[in-house]
Amino acid sequence: MSEKSVDKPNNFEPFILAIFCNWCTYTGADQAGTSRMQRPANLRIMRVMCSGRVESRFIIEALKRGADGVLIGACHIGDCHYVNGNHKTVRRLPLIKEFVKQFGFNPKRVRLEHISASEGAELTEISKEFVKELKSLGKNPRSSNK
Ligand code: FES
Repeated sequence: MSEKSVDKPNNFEPFILAIFCNWCTYTGADQAGTSRMQRPANLRIMRVMCSGRVESRFIIEALKRGADGVLIGACHIGDCHYVNGNHKTVRRLPLIKEFVKQFGFNPKRVRLEHISASEGAELTEISKEFVKELKSLGKNPRSSNK
């Protein structure tokens, strides 16, 4: 099914699978929480030890199961605890987006951001921005949320 045929209700709350690196973005999310920053409740966080662990099938599976978006959180370039895991993620992203397109989803539903452990405020802003973008894209055609 093409995403073009789906109506775009403006009052839905997107479901976002957030796949965060343990050493940076996950800790940044924790920092945002302990600092009482208001992060959108749309994110469900899955922790991986490094963004280099994120495989294209994780993203395809999430979209096939109805996630409206996938946010990958990685360490900044040069800060990866496994030296070059985030480089691999950056290189893999165009391929992931191509797979996403071939499965009939808008590639804008997948986003990679480099967010460190001390950037809880940035994570909050990026999350809000992504929620807004997904609302403008509309629901994932495979979403079971009515
Ligand atoms: Fe964070 Fe590799 S350890 S991206």
